[in-house]
Amino acid sequence: MSKQTQPIAVFDSGVGGISVLRELKKILPNEDYIYYGDSKNAPYGMKDKETVKQLTVDAAEYLFAQGAKGLVVACNTATSAAVRALREMYPEIPIVGIEPAVKPAATLKPNGRVLVMATPMTIREEKFQKLMARYEDMAEIIPLPCPGLMDFVERGDLTSEDFRRYLEELLFVHRIHPVDSVVLGCTHYPFAKDMICEILGPDVTVYDGGEGTAREMKRRLTEADLLNPREEIGTVDFQNSLEDDNKIKLCKWLLEI
Ligand code: DGL
Repeated sequence: MSKQTQPIAVFDSGVGGISVLRELKKILPNEDYIYYGDSKNAPYGMKDKETVKQLTVDAAEYLFAQGAKGLVVACNTATSAAVRALREMYPEIPIVGIEPAVKPAATLKPNGRVLVMATPMTIREEKFQKLMARYEDMAEIIPLPCPGLMDFVERGDLTSEDFRRYLEELLFVHRIHPVDSVVLGCTHYPFAKDMICEILGPDVTVYDGGEGTAREMKRRLTEADLLNPREEIGTVDFQNSLEDDNKIKLCKWLLEI
């Protein structure tokens, strides 16, 4: 099998990375994908950096052993813990990590108030602190750790009253002091976008890093001459560390909505 026809691996702590996979499929529809979620060890955002780094390196090894020609770390938390180490370990393989889309939010509305929703670990990490420092002259950046939000998405619960109450409580303080934009800095959160928009109202612009990450992977594969030349639509092989059919069904459903 030539390298160009090998699959692209997409990795997340659970089902959230499907929000990145759907952008990849729009921009690179002819590629085959392996989507691997580590739901057994989720949530990553509540763990320490060393643990998340080890879990991410183990997942990457598992995916490269299946012949992946490139890796998208479709998890902001895993990216902040491990992407640098992965690039050092595998310098010859295109590896792209997602990070919160602070840049477009801070630059498109000068002097705006930007709420960044992410996991506690992403917000604590140096990578995010540096990102925030880079744009703090252009906008007021308000980090908001969201412990527990990903669990609703892992259960496939995107519309319940419990979920609405959880989000209202989380966002209440920011309703009093309105924000101009919201950055969804965890790949699970785009699946909560409708509910977040309902709560915050129509004047808030919402950003996530999925599309930018997909574009970056396309650029890296083009540069390395690794794009799949065939014309048919590619496949997705869904895998999850929980080995639970319901997780795979949930992934397929999330890819369609
Ligand atoms: N989807 C992951 C992210 O983008 C985090 C969810 C978790 O806490 O495991 O940060």
